[in-house]
Order: sequence, then structure tokens, then C-alpha cells
Amino acid sequence: MSRATITVDRDFTAGPVPRRIFGNFVEHMGRCVYTGIYEPGHPDADENGYRLDVLELVKELGVTVVRYPGGNFVSGYNWEDGVGPVDQRPRRLDGAWHTVETNAFGLHEFAGWAKKAGVEIMEAVNLGTRGVEAARELVEYANHPGGTYLSDLRKKNGASEPFDIKLWCLGNEMDGPWQIGHKTADEYGRLAQEAGKAMRLVDPSIELVASGSSNRGMPTFGSWEQTVLGHTYDVVDYVSLHAYYEEKEGDAASFLASGVDMDLFIEGVIATADAVRAKGKHSKHINLSFDEWNVWYQTARQGDDMPATIEARGGWYEHPRIIEDEYNVTDAVVVGTLLNSLLRHGDRVSIANQAQLVNVIAPIRSEENGPAWRQSIFWPFARMSELANGEILRLSTTSDRFETAKYGDADIVDASATWDEENGRVAFFLANRGLDEAAEVTATLRGFDTARITRAEVLTVPEGADRFTSNNEQNQDRVGLKPLSDVSVDGGTLHATLPPLSWAVVEVEVTKA
Ligand code: AHR
Repeated sequence: MSRATITVDRDFTAGPVPRRIFGNFVEHMGRCVYTGIYEPGHPDADENGYRLDVLELVKELGVTVVRYPGGNFVSGYNWEDGVGPVDQRPRRLDGAWHTVETNAFGLHEFAGWAKKAGVEIMEAVNLGTRGVEAARELVEYANHPGGTYLSDLRKKNGASEPFDIKLWCLGNEMDGPWQIGHKTADEYGRLAQEAGKAMRLVDPSIELVASGSSNRGMPTFGSWEQTVLGHTYDVVDYVSLHAYYEEKEGDAASFLASGVDMDLFIEGVIATADAVRAKGKHSKHINLSFDEWNVWYQTARQGDDMPATIEARGGWYEHPRIIEDEYNVTDAVVVGTLLNSLLRHGDRVSIANQAQLVNVIAPIRSEENGPAWRQSIFWPFARMSELANGEILRLSTTSDRFETAKYGDADIVDASATWDEENGRVAFFLANRGLDEAAEVTATLRGFDTARITRAEVLTVPEGADRFTSNNEQNQDRVGLKPLSDVSVDGGTLHATLPPLSWAVVEVEVTKA
């Protein structure tokens, strides 16, 4: 049995839970849009073609904001192709994912879907093949009330009211050589500054995200942020981070400690942004938008989805199956720890988007003309979005440690916690990263009178199965949450025993002591 002690104190908070960290991402990639959120003719589709079975799962997942339309896709995208009469929209080749884009789904369709799903839109502009003009025109089309060519065109196309999009990404992964229109930090920084300035001149109320590093391992990580923020500090509000994790060559320990990498990445970007702040004598802070993160079996599947030659690809297709990873118990525990890292840093991480929402490395899967179901990674996201409300509690954690090849030793128990004063609840989100041993967690709640446990659930290896167990079309509920039985609270102290390799939520009813 391994052990961990946690102390929280009512007076030690890191600010309000930024609800935008429960964001997700819809890219025109694979089957995320087509046969994912949108499939006219599906038995569960409404009159707009939105799949209501998928929409129900999106609501249950608790998504607050959705980034759209890419991703790598946006760097070659003309937003104008996706508006106007559908039968007049052009079919285009999308070089990013080697796909034929029909443009049957565009901004109006996405805005209608977002309204129905109750999510905020986070729109990305193309700074790969396009620039200042297309970006400011899109803001005018989307947000200007009327009386100009572009805003009246939006009305003519069916939206009398502006979409009123507040959050805008200035391009995507512009540091990556794979990106269409890849740029140096200076080239991108100047373009982002001018595009952002022009966009704000159209609508001063928008919030802007500068494109940061595609992952912490990029050779330009650090210097990229420094240069880009050097150019854009006055005009942007956030800088982005992207990270994907996977279990490599059986190194489960390092994979389970992926949250350590996320912590280091976040803290590195904060340090860099604050150094630019100090050097430029700025008063405002640049906060972080972790607008792509997840588990993605990228190395393991390299080439499967995007073979190198046209012959191997077998031609150009509409919405091909791309990176439809099937997630297991270990992946769900890692996703729980990544959410913990984001929440613990919620004083600076203002936005986060799991990538992506449906089918493409996604918590929700769907089949064309078939069912929709929850992957294992659905559960930590859904519960944290439901229960992480109010204030982030700062944790003092002492845990037994485990060795990893990549990150040295790391805490076996990983945790985050929130205090929802309005509803009188403290919620703990706990992961046991030990593969073989249960973990005994003792949490002291200072400044609270604890009444009772209102929720205690755990996701772990199902009886008689192994850690690679997953859900799929035939077995949609093999991995999920079940009651956590070995848990109690008394006199301000919580005791919980977490099974090996598990993620758990424990919610306690509290009053101020
Ligand atoms: O989410 C899949 C892809 O990963 C996105 O298109 C890109 O931004 C990232 O490299």
C-alpha cells in the first residue's frame, strides 16, 4: 500500500475555477465534423443534420468552449468557402489531412451547433496561407451588427444576429514545419501583431490567443514565446500551448507521469511570458490557453493514418478515418492527471481544449448511421467539469514516489481540489498512478466543518480485465465509474483508499469552521 497526505485550507485558494479549461476542439479532420457532430440522414439527426445522440454526450461531458475549425486544417482554409448557399460552396483539397473538404459545414452550421450544445465558440483564423485582411473580414462578418457589406452578407446567409465570438486564435502551431505557411517566430510575431490589431479595430471586445509552441520538445520552445510575445504583448491576451502524450515501448511509468511534463511546460511558459512582461515594463499578464491536449498514440500509429505517398494513401477522400484512438484505463488515469495539472495552474491557465471532441482522438465516438458512445477518457473530464466549481484550493501534498525513465521520480498520488462555497462542497480529484499497489490518501480540510461524503466514484481496471481494457462499439460500458467504497470523512479528515491504477472523485459537504 502506498500513502499520501494532502492538506487544504479554506484561506489558501488560487482563484476561481476558470470554467473555460473544460473546453474541447472540433477540427475539420477525419470524422470529427462529418459523421461526428454532423450527419444529415442519421436516425438521430435533427433538421439541421446535427446528431442529437452525440450532442447529448457533449452536454454530459460538460464542455464549456469549443475551438474551431482547426488545427492544421485552418492554415489552408478560406472561411468564405464555408458560408452561403451550401450547394454553391466549393469542394477543396485539404492538404493538412489529405482530404476532400465539401464545405457542407461551415461557420453558420458550427454556430448553430454551438448554440444548441450551449458552448462558447473559440474561432481560429488562418495565418498560414492568409493574413490580416481575411482575419479582420471574418471578425466583421461574425461580430458586426449590420449595415456593412460583410455583416449584411451574414444576414443574407441566414444569421440576422451577430455570432458575437469573443475568443480568437491567431493561427495554429505556426512554429511547426508541418504547418501550411509555417513561419519563423519573427515572421509570425509580426503577422499576429498586425492581424490582431486589425481584428480589434473591428471589434475591440475580442480576446486574442497568440500561437505558442506545439509542444515542450520543440527546438524553438522558449525562444518562440519570447520573440512572439515581444511582438504581440500589447495586442494579445493569451499564448497557446499544445501537448499530446502516449505510452511508448511499454514505459508505463513515464506515461503515467505525463502530468509532470504538463506542469513543467505550463510553468516554463508562465516564466517566459513574465520575463517578456518585465523586460517590456508591461503591467498586464499574458495568461495561458492550453488549446490542444490529450493522449494521442502518435508515434505508435505513425504512418497508419497519413501514409507518406499518394499511392499509399489510395487517393483523396471525404472525411476518412484518421487517428480514431481507442482509449483504455491507463489513458483515462493520465487524462485525469492532465486535468489536475490544468486545474492546479488555473490562476494562469485560463482556457484549455481537449483535442478533439468526436472520433478524432476523442472522448466521444460515433459510427456513421450507427451508435455513439463514451470512451474511457470521457469520465474524468465529465466529472471534473461537473464538480470543479468555485475556488481552486492550493494543495500541500506529500506522496510516496515512483521512478520514471523520463521525469525522474514523481508522486504516486496526484491531486487537485476545489471549494464550491455556494453549494457547500469540497471536491477532490485523485489519481493513483501506482500500477500494482492501492494508495491510502488522508486529506485534512482546514477551516472547514465536514458533514458527509456526497459523491465518491472511481475509474479503475474492471474485475478480471487488464489496464488495456477499453470501450468500443460492441462493449460501450466496460470502462466507467463505479462507487468508491473505502472512503470516509470525520472531524475534518478524509480517508480514501484508491485501487491500483485509478482515478477518483470524492466530494464532501462542508461549512466554514
Ligand atoms: O489535433 C490534431 C492536430 O494536432 C491538430 O490539427 C494540430 O494543431 C496538432 O498538431
